[in-house]
Amino acid sequence: MFGTGSSSGRFLSQQSVRGLLSLVSAHRIVFTVLWSLVFAFLVLSQLRSVERLRNLLWGNNLLGATLPLYRPVAFNLTDFGGVGDGVTVNTEAFKRAVAAISKFENRGGAQLNLLPGRWLTGPFNLTSHMTIFLDQHAVILGITDEKQWPLMPPLPSYGHGRELKGPRYGSLIQGQNLVDVVITGNNGTIDGQGQPWWTKFRKRSLSYTRGPLVQLMWSKDIKISNITLKNSPFWTVHPYDCKNVTIANVTILTPVFGAPNTDGIDPDSCEDVVIEDCYIRVGDDGIAIKSGWDQYGMKYAKPSTNILIRNVTICSLVSAGVSIGSEMSGGVSNVTVENVRIWSSRRGLRIKTAAGRGGYVRNISYRNVSLDDVRVGIVIKTDYNEHPDDGFDPTAIPNIDNITYDGIHGERVQVPVRLQGSEDVPVKGISFHDMSIGLAYVKKHHFQCSFVEGRVIGSVYPIPCDNLDRYDEHGRLAMRSASQNVSDIDYYM
Ligand SMILES: *[C@@H]1O[C@H](CO)[C@@H](O)[C@H](O)[C@H]1NC(C)=O
Ligand SMILES: *[C@@H]1O[C@H](CO)[C@@H](O)[C@H](O)[C@H]1NC(C)=O
Ligand SMILES: *[C@@H]1O[C@H](CO)[C@@H](O)[C@H](O)[C@H]1NC(C)=O
Ligand SMILES: *[C@@H]1O[C@H](CO)[C@@H](O)[C@H](O)[C@H]1NC(C)=O
Ligand SMILES: *[C@@H]1O[C@H](CO)[C@@H](O)[C@H](O)[C@H]1NC(C)=O
Ligand SMILES: *[C@@H]1O[C@H](CO)[C@@H](O)[C@H](O)[C@H]1NC(C)=O
Ligand SMILES: *[C@@H]1O[C@H](CO)[C@@H](O)[C@H](O)[C@H]1NC(C)=O
Ligand SMILES: *[C@@H]1O[C@H](CO)[C@@H](O)[C@H](O)[C@H]1NC(C)=O
Ligand SMILES: *[C@@H]1O[C@H](CO)[C@@H](O)[C@H](O)[C@H]1NC(C)=O
Ligand SMILES: *[C@@H]1O[C@H](CO)[C@@H](O)[C@H](O)[C@H]1NC(C)=O
Ligand SMILES: *[C@@H]1O[C@H](CO)[C@@H](O)[C@H](O)[C@H]1NC(C)=O
Ligand SMILES: *[C@@H]1O[C@H](CO)[C@@H](O)[C@H](O)[C@H]1NC(C)=O
Repeated sequence: MFGTGSSSGRFLSQQSVRGLLSLVSAHRIVFTVLWSLVFAFLVLSQLRSVERLRNLLWGNNLLGATLPLYRPVAFNLTDFGGVGDGVTVNTEAFKRAVAAISKFENRGGAQLNLLPGRWLTGPFNLTSHMTIFLDQHAVILGITDEKQWPLMPPLPSYGHGRELKGPRYGSLIQGQNLVDVVITGNNGTIDGQGQPWWTKFRKRSLSYTRGPLVQLMWSKDIKISNITLKNSPFWTVHPYDCKNVTIANVTILTPVFGAPNTDGIDPDSCEDVVIEDCYIRVGDDGIAIKSGWDQYGMKYAKPSTNILIRNVTICSLVSAGVSIGSEMSGGVSNVTVENVRIWSSRRGLRIKTAAGRGGYVRNISYRNVSLDDVRVGIVIKTDYNEHPDDGFDPTAIPNIDNITYDGIHGERVQVPVRLQGSEDVPVKGISFHDMSIGLAYVKKHHFQCSFVEGRVIGSVYPIPCDNLDRYDEHGRLAMRSASQNVSDIDYYM
């Protein structure tokens, strides 16, 4: 542990000034001997000074003294017996570190530095007022033996594990009921080593739902920044029923093929979330905003709201760039997605739901989004019939309303728009303005609609479906649609 004060430094300089004044006329050797004694005294009594001197002499910044300090005190994992050799299991060291940091709760918290090394660990819980700082060459490695992962009850708004009934595996880094947690660094890495999990999932040899890499539940004032997260067993970052969450300047990577359900960031029943300046290239959705599953989500009734996503680049070869749903039964509203680039992806901007979900997706705004090499650009899908159990209520109809797309551009998109409402689940309040999406090849059905009510303002390319009203650039009605409920959906892509 090191503090910010430097009383030993002041002591040293006072001693040397006094020494100089009183010994000014003495013999040079006496002076040197006395000085050496003072120095030796300092050496013996001030271990911290030794370390500083060592740093000074050999420039050994592996001690972590050069890492920025965001809390009154900092520790590193070696202080708790940690070994960063990639082989030693550090779960107990992390647990001791967190227990020590929890004692600083009323004193501004404490920081845990991860110095260069490969810090293998099983799952551990965080505490409030804690900062984890990962040096550029520090890697937290998740242990792959699932028996070391504790089981936890299902999320209340899901009723079951998302993949398999019953409990679910916990997360590598987990927190519940916390305040003021920061995970940051100089682009250090948290690596979930997901490969064995993905293989076992595909072989159906797991008995429980896989765990996210980082999951914070019922917490607030959370910040995750300046790090890289890789190879999550399941969703990568999962804030659940949290308030005031910022995820900034984070890189999230998993293989784009063969890494099932490795979403990047899944804000779930969260309020006041900012996701910015991130690069996400993963095996499922880049970002997926959720709020619970069917009857369980409706009962839990906690929406995701006030969510801002900006300056994010996403590649999702098998799924979507930015998704809402399919679990959205607590409602999703007031989402802004701007200055986002989605490339080499199967879907671009997607809203996914089904009868039985209940809830709503309302007041969603997409601005300045570019879609390049995407199969289907903008998607609203209302028949995603995957239910937790037979207890869902088929008459619980999700309400989809007030979704605006402004400044959507791109190249080489196969089907730019597919808005698929139905008689049971109509889609309302859709608006397009300033859209031009270059096509992958000339084919019919570029702008597919079914049971959609909404408008197109000004010029939009490709030519919009007849389901939408047309307005001119000044907002004057040019032509009202006579065929909102006509269906022209083509699943070729
Ligand atoms: C950090 O680690 C080094 C050993 O690598 C140790 O000597 C030092 O005391 C630790 N603590 C802090 C806060 O730097
Ligand atoms: C983290 O805390 C939760 C809630 O107390 C508990 O269920 C879980 O087992 C803990 N995880 C670990 C790894 O200790
Ligand atoms: C992003 O992280 C990198 C590496 O840690 C850092 O150099 C850069 O300043 C950060 N940018 C922002 C906008 O925080
Ligand atoms: C952080 O590291 C990742 C992977 O190691 C790299 O792709 C990314 O460009 C780095 N980010 C910055 C800002 O240096
Ligand atoms: C949100 O959390 C940050 C820490 O990440 C904190 O500085 C800020 O004050 C919080 N905002 C509100 C409105 O509580
Ligand atoms: C990321 O790191 C850079 C430089 O180290 C720092 O200036 C910036 O504030 C950090 N950004 C965040 C969001 O923590
Ligand atoms: C956008 O995010 C990237 C990191 O993905 C960063 O390098 C860049 O500075 C950000 N741009 C703006 C305008 O903030
Ligand atoms: C919508 O969310 C933004 C943050 O993205 C927030 O500033 C704004 O106040 C919210 N609007 C409403 C009506 O709550
Ligand atoms: C639109 O988003 C791109 C990133 O995709 C960004 O470079 C550009 O500056 C944004 N344009 C405006 C007008 O904000
Ligand atoms: C959508 O926005 C309108 C107008 O600001 C507001 O009255 C309504 O409550 C919002 N809907 C939701 C679900 O937040
Ligand atoms: C539609 O949503 C936007 C936010 O995206 C909001 O500002 C506006 O008031 C909403 N309009 C209605 C009619 O609810
Ligand atoms: C379209 O279908 C919806 C819901 O099924 C219905 O409420 C609406 O009246 C229909 N609109 C027209 C123009 O027929």
